[in-house]
Amino acid sequence: MLSLEQEFHHIIDGQKPDNLYNPILYILEQPGKRIRPQLVNMSVNMFEGSTEQAKKVAMAFEMLHNFTLIHDDIMDEAPIRRGKDTVYKKWNSNIAILSGDALAIMALQQLLDLKCDEKVILAISNVFAQTSLEICEGQQYDLDFETQEKVSIDEYINMIRKKTAVMFAGCLKAGAILAQASQQDQQTLYDFGIHLGIAFQLADDVLDVYASAPVFGKAIGGDIRDNKKTYLYLKALEDANPAQKETLESLFSTQTSDFEKKYNIVRGIYDELNIKTKTEELEQHYLNLCMSDLEKINVSEDKKEPFNAIVQKMINREK
Ligand code: IPE
Ligand code: IPE
Ligand code: MG
Ligand code: MG
Ligand code: MG
Repeated sequence: MLSLEQEFHHIIDGQKPDNLYNPILYILEQPGKRIRPQLVNMSVNMFEGSTEQAKKVAMAFEMLHNFTLIHDDIMDEAPIRRGKDTVYKKWNSNIAILSGDALAIMALQQLLDLKCDEKVILAISNVFAQTSLEICEGQQYDLDFETQEKVSIDEYINMIRKKTAVMFAGCLKAGAILAQASQQDQQTLYDFGIHLGIAFQLADDVLDVYASAPVFGKAIGGDIRDNKKTYLYLKALEDANPAQKETLESLFSTQTSDFEKKYNIVRGIYDELNIKTKTEELEQHYLNLCMSDLEKINVSEDKKEPFNAIVQKMINREK
């Protein structure tokens, strides 16, 4: 069986116009972590579904994910992803918008190409459509919060549930549908994906401040520059003394002029308040929820092993 990369290459290589398809190939051939295809495969394997059909579902979600990244980098003005220029930097924003659109549609085509019961295709397509819409909602909240004065921690969790966690959940649910798991197991895996995805985004927000740039593959401090209301920021506000609170609120209420200075001050306050550890504690809480979700599924322990492993892997994320 061909690898994901070979499949992507096969579908896209040589298609015209170049300025539409080259950016798509560029992003799909980068070494992403491929977590979403992994999630699809995990749930298909848990319920012994078809690996051949699973691949199309896995490709659909990885393509949808890469589409969101192309557009996300325009919105966040991010220069680097996976250690390389972002699509809009390498080409331009118009090209990035259009190649992103095309990629989203090509993702859907993978599902239309499934060779299985039509009811299954319809159910998976519904998950795919709902996931896509909720990501847009999450991304809009993320942008709105940049300039919204008061954001609660509950609002933040809801935002990351939509922008990040529903895709994890959708991958697991789609795999479970393909493998004809029971409604109850589909829902439990969906919940597992939500909890895992929330933990994943919390870790991403920590890495945005604290990672090593060459390993992370993205520029450090982008969330601070963009006034993103991450958990780190919101928790820091909650725990800050009046002087720290005033500094944070003032730095996050205007456009950043001196990035280095802002980053150092904000990171300094996060350090004083032990924000990294506090965020990791919340992440652990969501990973614990994953473990209780997993207990509800009635399959043999060896089938659960990849799920345990992915939870463990989240804890030591460096990229
Ligand atoms: C990046 O996702 C977007 C977020 C939800 C934080 P990944 O960190 O999974 O990106 P790749 O695919 O591995 O590059
Ligand atoms: C990503 O959130 C969510 C989506 C791409 C839908 P971020 O903006 O934090 O992701 P990165 O850090 O750019 O990968
Ligand atoms: Mg971003
Ligand atoms: Mg973003
Ligand atoms: Mg991020």
